[in-house]
Amino acid sequence: MGAPLAKDQEVDLKIDSLAYGGNGVARSNGFVVFVKRGLPGDTVRARVTKVKRNHAEALALEVVEPGAPRVEAPCQHYPECGGCKFQDLAYEAQVEAKHEQVGDALRRIGGIQDPPLEPIISAKSLFHYRNKLEYSFTQTLEGPASGFHLAGRWDAVFDVEFCWLTTDLGNAVRETVDTWARGDRLEAYDQETHTGYLRHLVLREGRNTGQLLVQLVTAKGERFDRDQFVEELRRFPEVRSIHWSVNETPAEITNLPTELLWGEEWIEEELCGLRFRVRPNAFLQTNTEMAEVLYGLAVEYAGLTGNETVYDLYCGTGTIGLAMASQALTVWGIEVSEESVACALENADLNEITNAAFYAGEVGQAVEELRDRAGLPDVVVVDPPRAGLSGKALRRIGRMEASRIVYVSCNPTTLASNVKELAKEWGYRLERVRAVDMFPHTPHIETVALLVRGDPSPASSL
Ligand SMILES: C[S@@+](CC[C@H](N)C(=O)[O-])C[C@H]1O[C@@H](n2cnc3c(N)ncnc32)[C@H](O)[C@@H]1O
Repeated sequence: MGAPLAKDQEVDLKIDSLAYGGNGVARSNGFVVFVKRGLPGDTVRARVTKVKRNHAEALALEVVEPGAPRVEAPCQHYPECGGCKFQDLAYEAQVEAKHEQVGDALRRIGGIQDPPLEPIISAKSLFHYRNKLEYSFTQTLEGPASGFHLAGRWDAVFDVEFCWLTTDLGNAVRETVDTWARGDRLEAYDQETHTGYLRHLVLREGRNTGQLLVQLVTAKGERFDRDQFVEELRRFPEVRSIHWSVNETPAEITNLPTELLWGEEWIEEELCGLRFRVRPNAFLQTNTEMAEVLYGLAVEYAGLTGNETVYDLYCGTGTIGLAMASQALTVWGIEVSEESVACALENADLNEITNAAFYAGEVGQAVEELRDRAGLPDVVVVDPPRAGLSGKALRRIGRMEASRIVYVSCNPTTLASNVKELAKEWGYRLERVRAVDMFPHTPHIETVALLVRGDPSPASSL
């Protein structure tokens, strides 16, 4: 039987739930349709945009019958902005949907009928929670302005007036940079013609220290007055570190070598009672407040007694490993970004932690070398990017037979498939799992899972 829908057809659809990634899920005569801008509970008029063998995709055009628990979206740029997808969906419904998505992934992809899913932890702050914002420049009638991409448009950037995910300080510094750029008669870079100059502005804020790092990304050549730029930014006492990067490639990236224009090379952030150095290209969880909650959960799942050898794989600037160090015998981290490893080593020193070491390398390649140096681990913490563990990394970690794996995941679908593999090939059982909402109004989900080797103990199987 062919698909019951055709491309460009308009249909009324009742949205049942939210899929991972943020699209609504509906059924048309049993056929699954993923609906962009469809919120659970609503009936929407939608246009079919794609039909595949076992599902279709559609775009909601209007709400025919509202059912989703709605609130007023405070942001004037919602829903055009690509940053927030659910500002008008009541927060309780957002977290419920995320909790469901983790359970669904573990059942459907992980093959676990009844996953040991604990209640999701809601975010403490619904707005102003991000410690890092990356703006793209666009050319307006008044001159260059920094903004965000329109939802679903890589090629269109709008001028942001006020962002609800950063702080008042973040908004004020961005505005100051825009005013300076106009005064200096600079031009925004045009992604289509590859002309113009200003490309990106990155602002990172140590939310517990009040320190701010600025990175300006331009096209080739020094076409601005650096002293003037620094002077404008130094009006904010929080600004501690000002960098400049040149991007000569067409790619829209900010992860580039930087030249320090003024101040310290880094800023500091405080997490779990420890100080962390943050350089421009080093990874740091973008919600400081909830990172502390996430790490607290990882520490709890690790169940440390002080005698364990802990591997912190995909360790970034060493945050999780260092948060565990006081409760472990030794901590050993691997991370591919050399800049992050440099920060991790500095962070150990800064906090006078002497039982932790960090190495640069790809986990799949470097983890066996680490075993030769550190001995077999008792606890392995993994915190990979969205793609999850590669086949090689997973096999090599599985072969180490650590009694516990604490898996910190930013993608429940790859978490579920890795959990399945670790169970089938390496004898691990999913013992606890819990989502933490770090990113209200967006589809992102962070999850911590505890995998234990072997059969359940008699007590826990009761
Ligand atoms: C989700 S972040 C986690 C960082 C850290 N655990 C934290 O909480 O701040 C993932 C990290 O993995 C690193 N990474 C990505 N692929 C890698 C690989 N193949 N081997 C080692 N590290 C990798 C990235 O540079 C990034 O720092």
